[in-house]
Amino acid sequence: MGKLFVKKPLSILLSEASESDKGLKRTLGAGSLIALGIGAIIGAGLFVRTAAAAGQHAGPAVVFSFIIAAAGCALAGLCYAEFASMIPIAGSAYTYSYATMGEFIAWIIGWDLVLEYALGAATVAIGWAQYLNKLLEKTVGWTVPYQWCHSPFETSDAGVHGIMNIPAIFILLLLSLLLIRGIEGSAMVNNIIVIAKVAIVILIIILGWQFINPVNHTPFMIPENAGTVTMHNGTVVDYSKYGFHGISGVLRGAGVVFFAFIGFDAVSTAAQETVNPKRNMPIGILVSLFVCTALYILFSYVLTGIAPYQDFLKEGGEASVAYVIDKYMVGYGWLSTFVTVAILAGFSSVILVMLLGQTRVFYSMANDGLVPKVFADLHPKYRTPYRSQAMFFVFVSLFAAFVPDSVVGDMTSIGTLFAFVLVCLGVIVMRKTDPDLPREFKTPWVPVVPIVGTLFCVTMIFSLGWENWTRLIIWLLIGFVIYFGYSVKHSKTRKLVK
Ligand code: ALA
Repeated sequence: MGKLFVKKPLSILLSEASESDKGLKRTLGAGSLIALGIGAIIGAGLFVRTAAAAGQHAGPAVVFSFIIAAAGCALAGLCYAEFASMIPIAGSAYTYSYATMGEFIAWIIGWDLVLEYALGAATVAIGWAQYLNKLLEKTVGWTVPYQWCHSPFETSDAGVHGIMNIPAIFILLLLSLLLIRGIEGSAMVNNIIVIAKVAIVILIIILGWQFINPVNHTPFMIPENAGTVTMHNGTVVDYSKYGFHGISGVLRGAGVVFFAFIGFDAVSTAAQETVNPKRNMPIGILVSLFVCTALYILFSYVLTGIAPYQDFLKEGGEASVAYVIDKYMVGYGWLSTFVTVAILAGFSSVILVMLLGQTRVFYSMANDGLVPKVFADLHPKYRTPYRSQAMFFVFVSLFAAFVPDSVVGDMTSIGTLFAFVLVCLGVIVMRKTDPDLPREFKTPWVPVVPIVGTLFCVTMIFSLGWENWTRLIIWLLIGFVIYFGYSVKHSKTRKLVK
């Protein structure tokens, strides 16, 4: 117990970093980091969950949901940036917190990151399956039968029950194999995908603007007396409930679309390859967040202006963006196909980053002895953590195949929000415990920024409802059992630090 908050010595962290640093060149400037951030950020959150949040919770006021989620992220982002500039080596919130806040907090964050990365990958894979079906329908006139691209918890309008989501497993398998084989992070492919993603968002905003029907924006928030609607997956939405209309709906919508911002923290993991990380890291994190926020606000305004929000519960509940273009933007069939293809590519890059992030966090945790060594086993030829990648493929696939996207998506959001709260609080604690540690980037107005950031994140956590709190608590409890049952006995830092 006495070593619950043992800190990993910074000297060891830095020497490990210089070991793995060999061969890594510092080539990334602020521009590349911004591209990296945008590449990891824009995905299913925008192209799937915007419609879900509008249909179920916020209506057109999902625009406000985005603003609230962005504010929480920006404030947490400022705190992330202080951590990233304090310990400018490759890693993540897990690595930073181990050196600064001690093992137990690091464990909670690392364990929590599984929700962010693994379940995030599952959510995007489910979205990928929806858009794949759209593309198949357009090109070959055939779609994967309902039961083979939905979880057992979903039922179609025609009464067909889902069995498992095979396309979602397929894309996860493909990308896991790619990662095992080892892809040299190809900046060029990433840049092309980033450009395509940003291009379709801007195209939809510009071309869709003329199709906005003011009737769809009136009233801007869902009224309490909006009745009930049966969703495309069989669930009945009752708008009179708390969290399904008005301000409470906007807040819950913020928790849902928060997913769309996840990934900006991925920028911080590239610190070792960054030129002047202390300056460029915060720029990369904050500018990519800012660009995405502006695009999200405009995009959600246009999307909810073109189609009535109730559509997003029914026939527009899947591959919503392609649906809106096909149904309401007459004459823009080409745009819908282009958007679908770009989305498939864009989602793949997000899944790739998440699967990669997941195994790399567990790789660090395995090297620290907190999870079994198998997670750090490298392939003899490809030098990738292939066993870990294979195990996470199975884990992520189970969620993608058998759980609806709304559930895995909300679990991703709540897990990440919780990690953000710890990072925000961590900045305040660190200023007290280690005031002299050099920080090239300092979070402004401490403790106001971290406190307000915490409040935003906690509000979103609350808005996500008791089912999601329960899931988070169960996940953390499982984590505690593993930590006290396994990690405390195998922790290398505990053995090292007397
Ligand atoms: N922000 C990422 C997405 O929207 C996770 O897909």
